[in-house]
Amino acid sequence: MAVKHFLQFNDFSKAEILSLFEKTKIIKEKFKAYQKYWPLEDRTLVMIFEKASTRTRLSFESGMHQMGGTAIYLNTRDSQLGRGEPVEDAAQVISRMCDIVMIRTFEQDIIERFAQNSRVPVINGLTNEYHPCQILADIYTFIEKKGSIQGKTVAWIGDSNNVCNTWLQAAELFDFNVHVSTPKGYEVEIERAGLYGDDHFEEFEDPMDAVKGADIVTTDVWTSMGFESEKKERLKDFADWQVDQEMMLSANKDAFFMHCLPAHRGEEVTKDVIDGPQSVVWDEAENRLHVQKALLEYLLAGSEK
Ligand code: CP
Ligand code: NVA
Repeated sequence: MAVKHFLQFNDFSKAEILSLFEKTKIIKEKFKAYQKYWPLEDRTLVMIFEKASTRTRLSFESGMHQMGGTAIYLNTRDSQLGRGEPVEDAAQVISRMCDIVMIRTFEQDIIERFAQNSRVPVINGLTNEYHPCQILADIYTFIEKKGSIQGKTVAWIGDSNNVCNTWLQAAELFDFNVHVSTPKGYEVEIERAGLYGDDHFEEFEDPMDAVKGADIVTTDVWTSMGFESEKKERLKDFADWQVDQEMMLSANKDAFFMHCLPAHRGEEVTKDVIDGPQSVVWDEAENRLHVQKALLEYLLAGSEK
């Protein structure tokens, strides 16, 4: 039986994601009610981090614990991965000793090669190209508060990075629109975004035009992990792509502000927006825990070693 992985958002069908969301609701209610829920007793998750993390590590580690399982943290510095052990060999060995693997790394190719050599499911915890767990949580947050996202408009302001690419994939699956506004030279790379067509995606030179009619206004850091050497240049290039109150006023009246976090107040977003009444950033962060618990359970259901 082929092993199921979650390496990019469109590895799952819309039906699979909707059923994941149904499970998420139940799991979240149980968590809030302090009800014991241990479907993953004796199961082990290995988490491999080649980049820093707060939310991803915490949500996966506590999620496994809350479901009766255990999580092991590995990073490049303290493991043989940092000393050049081939990713294929690491995958063979690691996947014989655990039930599921989560990886945060650089190029998508690394996680794809790991998955090809893994006996157990692999989850993308962020690559240079994608951040599928984040968008699961973000869409769940929208649906939880407002209902269906179909036909809605998401305005992405700033860098066309891993989080942006994943919104674009999700738009095709869930049939909503993404308005993207980036500085020149930072536009969406269609192939990198993994898009089949561009029916759900429109580019705008002026961020004020992109936010018009938006139900969600979202952004992310101007310099993602792995691109630190470009930081100085990016600070200049992105200066006009800051989400501020004026932009929020151009969006729909009840629009949400979203950000995957960590955020830089005064760079990609002003303090009054991220800490203001339209911001749902803490709910997005919390929902990482609940959706990923549903994801872990789904990928492990009926799996064999
Ligand atoms: N949003 C997110 O993935 O946060 P971390 O980098 O803290 O894991
Ligand atoms: N785009 C950011 C997201 C961090 C969660 C990065 O890759 O650094």
